[in-house]
Amino acid sequence: MSIPEKVNLTTGTGWGSGPCVGNTGSVPRLGIPSLCLQDGPNGVRFTDFVTHFPSGLAAASTFNKELVYKRGKAIGREHRSKGVHIALGPSIGPIGLKAKGGRNWESFGADPYLQGIMGAQTVKGIQEEGVVAVAKHLIGNEQEHFRQVGEWDHGDYDRLDSSISSNIGDRAMHEVYLWPFADVIKAGVGGIMCAYNMVNNTYACENSQLLNYLLKEELAFQGFVVSDWGAQHTGVTSALSGLDMTMPGEVFDDWLGGKSYWGPLLTRAVYNKTIPQDRLNDMAARILAPFFSSEHLSLPSCEEVPNFSSWTHHTYGQQYPYQHFGAIVQQNFHAEARSVMNDKVALETARQGIVLLKNKNRNLPIHKDDGVRRLLIAGIAGGVDPNGFNCRDQKCTDGTLTSGWGSASVNNPWVVTAQEAISRKARERGMLVDLSEDNWDLECTEELSDFADMTIVIVNSVSGEGYIEVDYNYGDRNNVSLWHNGDELIKRVTEGCKKTVVVINAVGPVNMEKWIENDNVVAVLFVPPLGQFVGVAIAEVLFGEVNPSGKLPFTIAKKNSHYADIRYELGDCCDPQDTFERGVYLDYRFFDKHNIKPRFEFGYGLSYSKFSVTDLEIYEINPPSEYLPCPSDYMPRFHTIEDDICDPEDALFPHDEMDPVPGFIYPYLYNEDVRSLDEDDCYDYPKGYTPDQKCEAPLAGGGPGGNPALWETLYRVSAKVSNDGSIGGNYVAQLYIEFPSTIVASPPRILRGFEKIYLEPKECGEVEFEIKHRDLSIWEKESQQWIIQTGTYKLYVSTSSRKVELCGEIEIGC
Ligand code: NOJ
Repeated sequence: MSIPEKVNLTTGTGWGSGPCVGNTGSVPRLGIPSLCLQDGPNGVRFTDFVTHFPSGLAAASTFNKELVYKRGKAIGREHRSKGVHIALGPSIGPIGLKAKGGRNWESFGADPYLQGIMGAQTVKGIQEEGVVAVAKHLIGNEQEHFRQVGEWDHGDYDRLDSSISSNIGDRAMHEVYLWPFADVIKAGVGGIMCAYNMVNNTYACENSQLLNYLLKEELAFQGFVVSDWGAQHTGVTSALSGLDMTMPGEVFDDWLGGKSYWGPLLTRAVYNKTIPQDRLNDMAARILAPFFSSEHLSLPSCEEVPNFSSWTHHTYGQQYPYQHFGAIVQQNFHAEARSVMNDKVALETARQGIVLLKNKNRNLPIHKDDGVRRLLIAGIAGGVDPNGFNCRDQKCTDGTLTSGWGSASVNNPWVVTAQEAISRKARERGMLVDLSEDNWDLECTEELSDFADMTIVIVNSVSGEGYIEVDYNYGDRNNVSLWHNGDELIKRVTEGCKKTVVVINAVGPVNMEKWIENDNVVAVLFVPPLGQFVGVAIAEVLFGEVNPSGKLPFTIAKKNSHYADIRYELGDCCDPQDTFERGVYLDYRFFDKHNIKPRFEFGYGLSYSKFSVTDLEIYEINPPSEYLPCPSDYMPRFHTIEDDICDPEDALFPHDEMDPVPGFIYPYLYNEDVRSLDEDDCYDYPKGYTPDQKCEAPLAGGGPGGNPALWETLYRVSAKVSNDGSIGGNYVAQLYIEFPSTIVASPPRILRGFEKIYLEPKECGEVEFEIKHRDLSIWEKESQQWIIQTGTYKLYVSTSSRKVELCGEIEIGC
């Protein structure tokens, strides 16, 4: 490829300059089309005839690896049907450090192990369907406040000088934040998106330690790093620090302006030798490599292009609607991406994502025979938002919640609301049904609930991405309270109705202290954002057609002060600093360490059945070693692309072949004056980097996801589970490990395995966990390696992070 051809792969063509949220330049000479990058993690954004899948948080709550893999496949299939080449998901960061963090609902819960397994399953699923996955956001994007300069020039905040810096220590970086990225790299993820925020005071997308070292050397990531949209802040520095692709192409805050840090400037920087041509070759190779990395992926042909436009719903329109430019063309082909199979996966994920938190006297499932003949469904959050199912990026919150808001939203093809589904089931059973939707004028609700045998109160709490504000919530939630006067609604209903069932449809933990112990609150369901099937799944659980099996992927605290808070202060220099003081003590690890009793712990969730767990067995598969073996040396470079910088005239805009489109970013030089540096000038690589190939891998590295030995299974653990109840159901067995503290203290319990098993009544089955070398390792920052400490490792097979069923031990000697 010529230099402009390679540069064309690295630089987005500009916001709106192409059908997808991100479009690379094309290389027509080689039959490479503009590559389409499209959100997102819960289905295809900005188009029609697609499935709105349950969120990442819901997928995590299922604790079902196989189902999450199938969800990934279904999401991949739909992207493929729409002509997307690169899907911008899964989200495995935010990791959920902060309960109020706006985007926690996109990713897989507040534990690195859970995030890693579910992220890897999703990547496998998506990529097996022929679409490259992009795991995001690397790293520390734990809150929306101040993630991006330019978004915060309103409200109480002055314009920021820089994005927030997430200050993460080396141990937490390895054991918590980077952990799931190692999993997805091991699973073969093609792309990784660097985050908006700074990491340790350098922007994530130009952080050489993060990109060049941790990601590409230590974790041996072979694919491309793409910037979050507008997260690039420099041209040369970001290139030398490891960024491979900039999206959507422009500099931030100049959407449609056509100005880019790369494009023509990257071409010039290579011509004048500010950036070695090797680095550009590396970028292009990394962008194309994923398409050759497995039998399921291949480079799309010029015919395999998107059949939709992100920028208009109309069938026909101008080619570049935002730029008001171009001929009238067919923009949307309204291709059907949905299928019976995808519906099944979405619905099953929704069902298994629901968590039963309370069920006093077995009031659920609802039975007419238990005296429930008159049912009231109360709360605005169970109905239809007056603005419909699809207001901009799902920012409407006055109805049944299908997702949070922002780029991970998907257009609902339709929604079955909770009201609709519950009342249908109640009618089928000959019940009387009434509705009450006013959350403020509660007199009528009170009257109706007084008359009802049971009231289902549906309440919500929502958040989303920082570019949208809803009710003064700038992405992050302002608090963990229920929205729309929810607490008062519950209180007033319980005054009249002795059987009140609360359905919390929310993006994360909510404070339920005002009513959770009220005797009239007989049952509580936690329902994460479930996509279009939300109502169906809720109703099936309430009426017992589905036995609930979801588990909380985070802790619900009794006191709000027990959660890590959003950083609101800008600091004197308007460069907010967010030091992650919890270190490795994320979520339940913090509660366990400080012996704080939560309201509901991580991993908690009830069933309509009763299970017992017996017969713990622990087998050694490979003997553990304290230290990692040295990884093999890097392979010598077998092919070097010679520098072929020639006449700059070759890289000028080909005016005789085409006319420029306004705002479109091209790779061509502005003029021939590239002012080449002297031959012997060195490239200004960040400390520790040179364009020369290294021979040795770092001790922690040497293979995708780190040192290959980290991925070896050392122990196998098994246990028997039996269903002692009278209905079939799923049981989630969770394995937690308590580490010795020979070198360093660790959280009291760390999740290191989970298995979901379905059992008919009286049936017995076996669950098996594999403990890998990495699962027993701690990160020692002094020696920069993973170490297995000597001592006793306690194993707990549990029903939640606090309810231990069986324990055993592993003794590791010197
Ligand atoms: C910004 C979001 O942070 C990212 O997740 C998304 O993929 C891009 N916008 C593109 O929409």
